[in-house]
Amino acid sequence: MNLIGESGSIISLPKIADPRGNLSFAENQTQLPFEIKRTYWIYDVPGGTERGGHAYRENTEFIIALSGSFDVLLDDGHNIERYSLNRSYYGLLVPKMIWRTMENFSTNSLALILSSTEYSESDYIRDYQEFLKNARK
Ligand code: TYD
Repeated sequence: MNLIGESGSIISLPKIADPRGNLSFAENQTQLPFEIKRTYWIYDVPGGTERGGHAYRENTEFIIALSGSFDVLLDDGHNIERYSLNRSYYGLLVPKMIWRTMENFSTNSLALILSSTEYSESDYIRDYQEFLKNARK
């Protein structure tokens, strides 16, 4: 299942089904259209909290719900799409210059994010009006 939306796309990951427990993986350039430079994870999110609320100038991300569920809202400056992530064998590819917000985190949810760049605060656009000025026309 590769579901391509206006702003993001769902990429299926291999799932090695096994009675001992399932295994999935993501490799540079094979499952992902970029080289992983960084990984981080979001956890212990209190109910009702919103994360994100920014865009990146250059960074592309791949977001996987390793545990539990949450929604990712992607805004390209024209349309907003909601993706509900709740399985660990697919993820959401978020290209650069997309405003993204994460919400509706379930108890004990765990979001793993694979990033194409190292952390740089100057890569963030945190002001929505500035994002709109730079967004796809
Ligand atoms: P931020 O990306 O704003 O979080 P979210 O989008 O999930 O709401 O990051 C929150 C803080 O963590 C911010 O001060 C920057 C810091 N941070 C790092 O130092 N390294 C990283 O790789 C990331 C993603 C964030």
